Amino acid sequence: MEQLMKEDSKNVQTEYLLEVRGLKKYFDVSEGLFKKRKSFVRAVDNIDFFVKPGETLGIVGESGCGKSTTGNLIMQLLDKTEGEIIFEGVDLGKLSGEKLRRKRAEIQMIFQDPFSSLNPRMRVFDIIAEPLKTHHVAKGKELENQVYELMDVVGLDRSYARRYPHEFSGGQRQRIGIARALALKPKLIICDEPVSALDVSIQSQILNLMAKLQKEFNLTYIFIAHGLPAVKHISDRIAVMYLGKIVEITTKEKLFDQPLHPYTEGLLSAVPIPDPTLRDKKNRIIIEGDMPSPANPPSGCRFHPRCPYAQERCKIEEPKLVEEQQDHFVACHFPLEEGHGILLDK
Ligand SMILES: Nc1ncnc2c1ncn2[C@@H]1O[C@H](COP(=O)(O)OP(=O)(O)OP(=O)(O)O)[C@@H](O)[C@H]1O
Ligand code: SF4
Ligand SMILES: [Mg+2]
Repeated sequence: MEQLMKEDSKNVQTEYLLEVRGLKKYFDVSEGLFKKRKSFVRAVDNIDFFVKPGETLGIVGESGCGKSTTGNLIMQLLDKTEGEIIFEGVDLGKLSGEKLRRKRAEIQMIFQDPFSSLNPRMRVFDIIAEPLKTHHVAKGKELENQVYELMDVVGLDRSYARRYPHEFSGGQRQRIGIARALALKPKLIICDEPVSALDVSIQSQILNLMAKLQKEFNLTYIFIAHGLPAVKHISDRIAVMYLGKIVEITTKEKLFDQPLHPYTEGLLSAVPIPDPTLRDKKNRIIIEGDMPSPANPPSGCRFHPRCPYAQERCKIEEPKLVEEQQDHFVACHFPLEEGHGILLDK
């Protein structure tokens, strides 16, 4: 046991930047007359994953499956119900005060809607300077230099420093959000649908900027999105979430070429395939119906009411996330055979 634990902690320190173990977030919601009936929304329900330094982990799934809750838990913006969030080998749940504040600064977030995440009454200069001031990183001329350097890095003209967020386009606002997120030289950035509110033409500019910054500053990203097309280019590995659970997690190539979970197959069916000969050959399954409520998830496999391959066992027994193939984890009693993927245009 001791030997195991030693190897485990060595793993955490050398191999993973972040490790999430058994993470749960149940929100209390009271219902009924006089809100007497208590129930829980199982927004995140026992998830495990890791992120390696320098990589991008995509997290995808339908609205309400728990993606943002996962990001907010890692950012310590929400209190977890259970589980561990281990960052650089340190369980964040065991830190408090100044130690936690310092560790937290190494994790930053970029939000979907840069407008609502930027204080409308603050000028760009002050928005970017705020974390540097709060953490006593710089003041006076040095602060000014650092803010202007951050503006250069994200491609914002220094002459914009005195302007307010409403004077900018969506793409430029996202650049302000990125500059602010970079200010404290974080190691991990959680990007919660950072481009989905932007025009398609602007999306690739911001994604290219993020890719450039990742190389330049050796950043690690968790990139949250609804569907697979949005994470296809940026991700190294991808986690698919369904109703508070991770149902599949593996490298991008394996996920696209050979998905093992029926829900992933459904998500892939929504990915456009440019080559018509390939398109006609592929299985296109449409997942019907809406995702059930996380307040009252289905028994057994949570996907069973919508799964075209569901069998009796699926209604009773919850499938665990297991390493079905090397580096390829899936939670399904009857993983798919070969031939359900789409070839990834490399
Ligand atoms: N503060 C809260 N109180 C109660 N329920 C919440 C709260 N925050 C989130 N939820 C619920 O938890 C579930 C997961 O929400 P979450 O925002 O994490 O989903 P998401 O995958 O990010 O969805 P989207 O793609 O729409 O952003 C949803 O059912 C949501 O309604
Ligand atoms: S466990 Fe059963 S219901 Fe769930 S995804 Fe697999 S085949 Fe479908
Ligand atoms: Mg969300």
